Amino acid sequence: MYQSYENVTVFDHPLIQHKISMLRSKETGTNEFRKLVEEIAMLMGYEALRDLPLEDVEIETPLETCLSPMISGKKLAIVPILRAGLGMVSGILALVPTAKVGHIGLYRDHDTHEPHEYYCKLPSPIELRTIVVLDPMLATGGSAVAAVNFIKKHGGRNIKFMSIIAAPEGIERMQKEHPDVEVYCGHVDRCLNENAYICPGLGDAGDRIFGTK
Ligand code: PRP
Ligand code: URA
Repeated sequence: MYQSYENVTVFDHPLIQHKISMLRSKETGTNEFRKLVEEIAMLMGYEALRDLPLEDVEIETPLETCLSPMISGKKLAIVPILRAGLGMVSGILALVPTAKVGHIGLYRDHDTHEPHEYYCKLPSPIELRTIVVLDPMLATGGSAVAAVNFIKKHGGRNIKFMSIIAAPEGIERMQKEHPDVEVYCGHVDRCLNENAYICPGLGDAGDRIFGTK
């Protein structure tokens, strides 16, 4: 794992890098793509959640009673941005099966690239939870910024954002508009093209996860 931007962690683990290369390939079909997104989310989540608070709990082993650490406080909330963020949910739930799951529906306008919201449902009390927003692609940053705006408007405070591939433009926008949000990503790509797609990227994440076009 290495840090090159403030509040941004980019993962350099060989397993994550290898799986991202497989994701990028246009030869990778829907079934394999979904599995890879889930696996990468789990590997990233393992590190991104290393600051979850612990408290000592009394446990009876077959030999004696001891105090042993368990995750404390209100359970984690994971909030995928629809649609593509849904692909990452099972990877995080494999790590924290008791996490609550909210949803934010946003789509990018094809011409303006501005996000439009169509759905939002968050677990309560959102203000007491660590919230991990999931979206495999951080391109212009419009969707990520809008999702975090929304969560903050509902009272969310302790927010992390996790993407598999990010563009420098998206990272900079998140840092400018939400400097308090920790951003985790698997790779920072070169740039956006004229259609605001990440290059080299992996194409349209939602279409590749759900087999649409
Ligand atoms: C994609 C992606 C992000 C957004 C990133 O979603 O999953 O949500 O674009 O772009 P941005 O950083 O420029 O906002 P899209 O709007 O294509 O919707 P979909 O997931 O329903 O396909
Ligand atoms: N959304 C995607 O799915 N891919 C991109 O490259 C940019 C936005």
